[in-house]
Amino acid sequence: MNARVRRDFERIHGHAPEGVWAAPGRVNLIGEHTDYNDGFALPMALPQTAVLVARRRADGLLRLHSAQGDGRTTTLRVADLAPGTVSGWARYPAGVVWALRERGMPVGGADLHLDSAVPTGAGLSSSAALECAVAVAYGDLYGLGLRRPELARVAQYAENAFAGVPCGIMDQMASVCCAEGSALHLDSRTLEVRQVPFDLAGHGLRLLVLDTRVAHDLADGAYAALRAGCERAARLLGLPALRDLAEAELPGALGRLPAELVPLVRHVVTENARVGRAVEQLAAGQPSALGPLLTAGHASLRDDYGVSCPETDLAVESAVAAGALGARMTGGGFGGSVIALVRAEGAGAVAEAVTAAFTAAGYRAPAVLEAVPSAGARRIG
Ligand code: GLA
Repeated sequence: MNARVRRDFERIHGHAPEGVWAAPGRVNLIGEHTDYNDGFALPMALPQTAVLVARRRADGLLRLHSAQGDGRTTTLRVADLAPGTVSGWARYPAGVVWALRERGMPVGGADLHLDSAVPTGAGLSSSAALECAVAVAYGDLYGLGLRRPELARVAQYAENAFAGVPCGIMDQMASVCCAEGSALHLDSRTLEVRQVPFDLAGHGLRLLVLDTRVAHDLADGAYAALRAGCERAARLLGLPALRDLAEAELPGALGRLPAELVPLVRHVVTENARVGRAVEQLAAGQPSALGPLLTAGHASLRDDYGVSCPETDLAVESAVAAGALGARMTGGGFGGSVIALVRAEGAGAVAEAVTAAFTAAGYRAPAVLEAVPSAGARRIG
């Protein structure tokens, strides 16, 4: 891989690179739509990464090429970067360079070549992987001395303010902070993280990723509306964020909210509690006990938060019916992927059952991957 992407870089940019970096996509085990409520999540990095080959330039130009692009190189002037001026995949790497400069970082141009194995449009954080690869590479190349959570903030700012996607911090934190063999217990308010050992194979388990291959157009506007609804609820309750509402206080709080905000608040508060319980189960060496929490989390996303869709619901139902210990949609929703926790010996049967159910419903067959807790962003060459 390393030798190949270096050769590709030399062919495209005409000189040798200074280094190669990789940043992973993620699945979130539990804790969905909690990050922008200052809450908790438990993502883990995928083995699939965005690989970035880079070399600084002294002339202030940013030259971007992607193996997944149209073959053309995009040339931008770093000093002219501004929100809304770059479209397509290039807005993620360009946005990170812009965001670093907005923070007053002394960064200039570069030749970049990206080659990503993270599936796009599958809810597996392919854009965060691109951003984080660039953030980590720039941090190293320009000797910025930024800590990992700060790099994640830069990447999130690029996505929010440059690419115009109002996401939270989970995907970027997962991409830069995850460690091999562990899930990441993330506090989205403080950006404190704890590595929670997640030994699937040692417990005879596997985590399947069922990419439904549907992405609903409404996603961006709907995500922003949900986020605004949560923020309004927190204001009405006199709280800094919904993170500050404990599960025990929920019944009293719900009675003080307009009806349309009740299910949103119920999801966020119970989901934060599910993250806590999941972490306890993993700490107790009982990863199979995650199963029911995953399925309960899905029901809450479907019934209260309204971000599932017929395809993700069918994937969850058919996986559980075929023996999965638990299953849920992962990521923002409105399509994307479902994770299913399965006993190793039952993995094939679950994948087949979901595929058969999709065929029977007239849906495109899902793409099946396996999630293995993998390393976060790093220099690889
Ligand atoms: C998307 C966003 C994240 C998070 C999830 C839902 O993946 O990018 O910040 O809000 O949705 O948990």
